[in-house]
Amino acid sequence: MQPEFLYSLRTIAYIIASATFIIGLKRMGNAKTARNGNLIAAVGMTLAIIASIFIHVNKTPEGYETVETPGFIYTLIFAAIVIGTVIGWLTAKKVQMTKMPELVSMFNGMGGACAALIGLMEFHHNLNNTGALIAIILGLIIGSVSFSGSIIAFLKLNGTMNKPIRLPSYNIINTVVMIGVFAFGAHMIFSGTQSTTLLYLLFASALVYGILFTIPIGGADMPVVISLLNSFTGLAAAFGGFLYDNKVMLTGGILVGSAGTLLTLVMCKAMNRPLSNVIFGAFGGDSAAGGNGPDVKGSIKDMSVADVAVLLNYSKKVVIVPGYGLAVAQAQHIIHELEVLLEERGVEVKYAIHPVAGRMPGHMNVLLAESNVDYGKLVEMDDINPEFEQTDVVLVVGANDVVNPAAKTDPSSPIYGMPILEVDKAKHIIVNKRSMNAGYAGIDNLLFYDPKTSMLFGDAKKVLTEVVAELKTM
Ligand code: TAP
Repeated sequence: MQPEFLYSLRTIAYIIASATFIIGLKRMGNAKTARNGNLIAAVGMTLAIIASIFIHVNKTPEGYETVETPGFIYTLIFAAIVIGTVIGWLTAKKVQMTKMPELVSMFNGMGGACAALIGLMEFHHNLNNTGALIAIILGLIIGSVSFSGSIIAFLKLNGTMNKPIRLPSYNIINTVVMIGVFAFGAHMIFSGTQSTTLLYLLFASALVYGILFTIPIGGADMPVVISLLNSFTGLAAAFGGFLYDNKVMLTGGILVGSAGTLLTLVMCKAMNRPLSNVIFGAFGGDSAAGGNGPDVKGSIKDMSVADVAVLLNYSKKVVIVPGYGLAVAQAQHIIHELEVLLEERGVEVKYAIHPVAGRMPGHMNVLLAESNVDYGKLVEMDDINPEFEQTDVVLVVGANDVVNPAAKTDPSSPIYGMPILEVDKAKHIIVNKRSMNAGYAGIDNLLFYDPKTSMLFGDAKKVLTEVVAELKTM
C-alpha cells in the first residue's frame, strides 16, 4: 500500500479514536450511559493502538517514508500486550467493589511510570532538540511524581499507611524539593549534559518528591490528592504525545489531564481546601497535624430493628445517607428494596450524596446505580442540606466522616472545614454501623452521642434485611 494512503489511514484512525474518547467521557457523566461510554472509549483506544503498532509512516519535507520495523520488536510489543492484558483483566475481574479505589490508584501510577520510562528511554535520542527535551524532562518529572505518589495513595487507601507522616516544616521542605527538581530538570534541558547518572538522579529525586508530596496528606483529604495525581498522569502522557507527534496520545493525555484537574477543583470545593495548599504542601494546614477529634463524652442510645421499622413506617420524609460501609456490606440492593417499600407506604425517600462519601469520586452514585435506584432520588449535599430540618428520619448507613459535626465545630479536627451533610438538623437520626469504630479520618463522631441519634448496630446488609422483613409484617 502507498505510504501516503497508510499515513491518512492512521490519521483517520486517530481522529475516530479521539472522538470516541470525548463521546465516552460525555457518556460517563451519567450512570445509565457510563458503561456504554467506557466501552466506546475502549474500542477507540484499541483502534489507536492497532494503528500505532502497524502503520509506521513518517511525513518528511520530501514526502512520505515507510519506517521498517524489525520482527523482534513486534514480538516484544505483543508479549507486553498479552502479559499486561492478562494481568489487567484478571485484576479488574477479581477486584471487590470496595477495593476499586486502590486499583484505580495503582493503574494511575502505572500510567505515570510509563511516561517516566519514555523520558528515560528518549533523553539520549533527542539531545539536540530543545523542544523535545522539554517534553521529555517534564514527562519524566510529572510521570515519576504521579507514579510514586500513586503508590503512597494506594498504601493509604488500603490501610497499610493509615497515619499522615509529617516531617518538621514539611510544607517548606516540599516546596524547596519541588523547586529543586524543576531546576534540576531545567539543567538537564539547557546544559547540554549527556550524563545518564544525572538523568537517573533526576528520576530518583522526582520519585522522592512524589512520596514527600503524598505522605503528609491525612485522613479525609485523600480524594483531592487522588484526582490531582490522575491529572498529573494525563499531563505526563500528553508530553509523550507531543514528543512522538502522536495526536491520539496527545488528545488522550489532555483529556485525562483536564478531567483530572476539573475533578481536583470539584474535590477542593467539596473539602473546602484551596488548590494552592495542595500543590505547595500545606495541605490540610496545621489543624490536620494530629487532632483526634473531640473529647467525646456522653452516652449512646441503641435501637432495635423493630423500633427502627416502626419509626420509618410512620415517617413522612426519610433521607438515607449512604457511606463507605454500604459498599463494604454490599447493601445497595437491600437499601433500594427498603426505599421502594417505604415509598409504597407514602413515605418520601431521598438519598443524600456527599461528594467524598466512600473511597472514590462518585462511589455512592455508582453503587446505587448498580441496584437501579432512580438517579433523580440522589440529591447532592448542597441541595439536601436545607431539607434536613423538614426530615423526620435520617438513616445513616455506613457513613461516618461525612456526617461528623467536628468538621464544623472542632478546629483541631483533621476534617475541620470540610462541608458535611448536616443530618443533626433532622428530627431523628438512625446510624447503622457495626461498632463505635472511627471512619477513614480516624476520629470520633459526636453525632453518635446526640440525644436525637439512635444507633442500629450490625452489618448493613444483615440489619437492613431484618428491617425490611419487619416492615413487611406491618
Ligand atoms: P467513613 O468515614 O470511612 O466511615 C465508614 C463507616 O462504615 C465506618 O465508621 C464503619 O464503622 C462503617 N462500616 C464499615 N463496614 C460496615 C458494614 N459492613 N456495615 C455497616 N457499617 C460499616 O465513610 P464515609 O462517611 O463514606 O466517608 C468517606 C471517607 O473516606 C472520608 O473521610 C473521605 O475523605 C475519605 N476518602 C474518600 C475518597 C473519595 S474520593 N470518596 C477517597 C479516599 C478517602 P464500623 O467499623 O463500626 O462498622
